[in-house]
Amino acid sequence: MTKPMEKQEILDLMRTFQGPEVVMAAHKLSLFDAIGKKSLSAIDISHKIEASVRGCTILLDALVALGLLLKNKERYQNTPVGLKTLCSDGDDTIINSMNHINELMESWRRLPESVLSGHTNKKLDLQFSENSEVNRSFIGAMAELGRPNGRIIAENLNLASYNKLLDVGGGPGAYCEEILRVNPQMFGVIADLPITIESARPYVEKGGFAERISFIAADFYNDPNVELGSNYDVVLISNVLHMEGEVQNRKLIKKLYNTMEPDGLLIIHETIISEDHTSPLDRTFFAVNMLVNTQRGNSYSFNEIKGWLVDAGFGVVEFIDCFENPSLMTAKKIMS
Ligand SMILES: C[S@@+](CC[C@H](N)C(=O)[O-])C[C@H]1O[C@@H](n2cnc3c(N)ncnc32)[C@H](O)[C@@H]1O
Repeated sequence: MTKPMEKQEILDLMRTFQGPEVVMAAHKLSLFDAIGKKSLSAIDISHKIEASVRGCTILLDALVALGLLLKNKERYQNTPVGLKTLCSDGDDTIINSMNHINELMESWRRLPESVLSGHTNKKLDLQFSENSEVNRSFIGAMAELGRPNGRIIAENLNLASYNKLLDVGGGPGAYCEEILRVNPQMFGVIADLPITIESARPYVEKGGFAERISFIAADFYNDPNVELGSNYDVVLISNVLHMEGEVQNRKLIKKLYNTMEPDGLLIIHETIISEDHTSPLDRTFFAVNMLVNTQRGNSYSFNEIKGWLVDAGFGVVEFIDCFENPSLMTAKKIMS
């Protein structure tokens, strides 16, 4: 159980908003890009981002203190890691994730309203709206964040005897690609919303998987007649169940059961929370994230998800311990 906080710890906690605000301000002002590979004075940088010298200098020094910039003789430089990750042309850029986190920070500021209403208070679900910059950042962030996790799943599950994978809500396809990379016998199908598929296709082409991964445009939560194909011997559902409520997830799991071959394997990658919903901390925060961003989403426990699976006809439900926090479970389709 987490130790109850002392007064000073509470005050320290309340101040932790400052670091992210400093980084986000720099990101919004394209400050890391403005410095690029150069070593520049605060005046040079303030001209480049069209900012006041006072404001720019104070922000630059805070970034130095955080370890996100270097300062030498009144000149500022990106760190080697910052050049790769915080600059938009870096080879490990997290620019989409930064944009996505910025969206999340905006929604979290409306947390009191969401606590009162019990759901998101966003006027319009921009995430899935057409031509949406928000959707592009969201999918870009999924691509940046998903690949290492996809690799862990691919390396920890023996899928050598499986051939046809359905990746439900596969987004930019990073998980599907990593599983196919380790399993050359396999072909993949990504089922996702049309708007997401539009953003995802270039990622799959760039990854060299256009021949082995196809797409199904589907609204699998809301369309009662949705077609997800059939004869899959393996189905992956990664980071999807948390977006919806129990009723919707039970229906989706039953639909997936019906698309699968007898003995097929269902892989669930999720933000699994403890049975009493109070740990790990990041999963409780993830539930808050779902409160401010969705109508019914949540973090679910192993036994909650297991109950849905068993009721849909799945068996041999197993927890796979290969992530720092609980994230992976599998189940087998049992023929009734
Ligand atoms: C949080 S992302 C997960 C992406 C990827 N599986 C991963 O783990 O990174 C959720 C995905 O579900 C898709 N999605 C959300 N609602 C959907 C719906 N009603 N029908 C189809 N796809 C949906 C989104 O477009 C998005 O790609």
